[in-house]
Amino acid sequence: MSQTILKSSADAQPRNIPFFNYPGLFAEHETEFMATIHDVLKRGAFIMQKDLFEFEAALASYLGVRHVFGVADGTVALTLALRLAGVGEGDEVIVPSHTFVATAAAVNHVGAVPVLCDCGPDHMIDVSSADGLVTSKTRAIMPVQLNGRTCDMDQVGAFAARHGLKIVEDSCQALGAKYKGRFAGTFGVAGSFSFYPAKVLGCFGDGGALIVDDDANAEIARQYRDHGRDPVSGKVVRFGYNARLDNVQAAIMMVKFRHYGKSLEHRRALARIYQERLSGLSELLLPPGPDASNDRYDIFQNYEVEADSREPLREHLKARGIGTILQWGGHMIHQFEKLELRHNAPYAEGMSKRYMLLPMHHLLGEDDVNYICDAIVDFYRG
Ligand SMILES: Cc1ncc(COP(=O)(O)O)c(C=O)c1O
Repeated sequence: MSQTILKSSADAQPRNIPFFNYPGLFAEHETEFMATIHDVLKRGAFIMQKDLFEFEAALASYLGVRHVFGVADGTVALTLALRLAGVGEGDEVIVPSHTFVATAAAVNHVGAVPVLCDCGPDHMIDVSSADGLVTSKTRAIMPVQLNGRTCDMDQVGAFAARHGLKIVEDSCQALGAKYKGRFAGTFGVAGSFSFYPAKVLGCFGDGGALIVDDDANAEIARQYRDHGRDPVSGKVVRFGYNARLDNVQAAIMMVKFRHYGKSLEHRRALARIYQERLSGLSELLLPPGPDASNDRYDIFQNYEVEADSREPLREHLKARGIGTILQWGGHMIHQFEKLELRHNAPYAEGMSKRYMLLPMHHLLGEDDVNYICDAIVDFYRG
């Protein structure tokens, strides 16, 4: 890790770098998108059509799993994954407090109770904080592959084995991330992805995927996402959900998926610049860099840091045209008092006053990131 605060060759001209660039996502492949949308609409192929099945097959082949189901969003993918794990009424599930409320909401949707544990300085689940939270009702643990990084899945696996728990992965933010060569989304009973527009693979609306390797579970998942219908007989064999991914969104994502590997590498290159330029600042805690460990391939869905004087820093960056955000509005789940959730999350509590996201997406240039780094170095070093 470099201790030197490198000088940038970026120009000092003011720039406008919003936190995210939604219009840019369309402009990037506008011609291909319009041709694809035109083709799908002209065919009248809206629900459960070939574009969806082609997208599912492409994703399954990429991940090396037997089944992928395109679903309405990441939250329903998590809900179905919990159902496949047999989690239900009266059960408890361990969830880290530093995640989107959707992780805990999915537990609630199956009638169970989320119990919140802590994260560590890399912002991933700290299973040691969960030991005292396990009861006779605890049925599963949900590691969250946050910010496009994977949890220490050996530790999660050992914890689950020790307590006899199922693993249900929230990999919504981590399509393409790997732990010891294995893709996020392929650990545990089932995995989940979100295709919310700001995700590394985002659609133009809501979307998600459920990842299942086991054939028997796949049959149930197929029924759940389509009103509980058996796909051959069309008969309802259980109460299910209307949780299908729209065909047009699947077709759009096929366009983007062709460029996926390139956009992951670009994010990692940007993360490398942040790492090289900022790791010498004692006022900032950075995420582990892209080359920090051979055990992980992080895809940097987000670049989440902890910062001294966070609000003045954000103001300073704003004045330089740089957008930042606080993931989930600056709240850990245990801080939503109305949910009344049992928790043990002291690190997350302290971190809530320090954490923030710096711009990170594949439309940013290296010069943009150098400009951001210049502004941060100026703030702390003048
Ligand atoms: C960690 C995490 N879990 C769950 C979700 C829920 O996904 P969706 O918004 O597609 O329902 C998200 C999406 O933002 C997420 O980031």
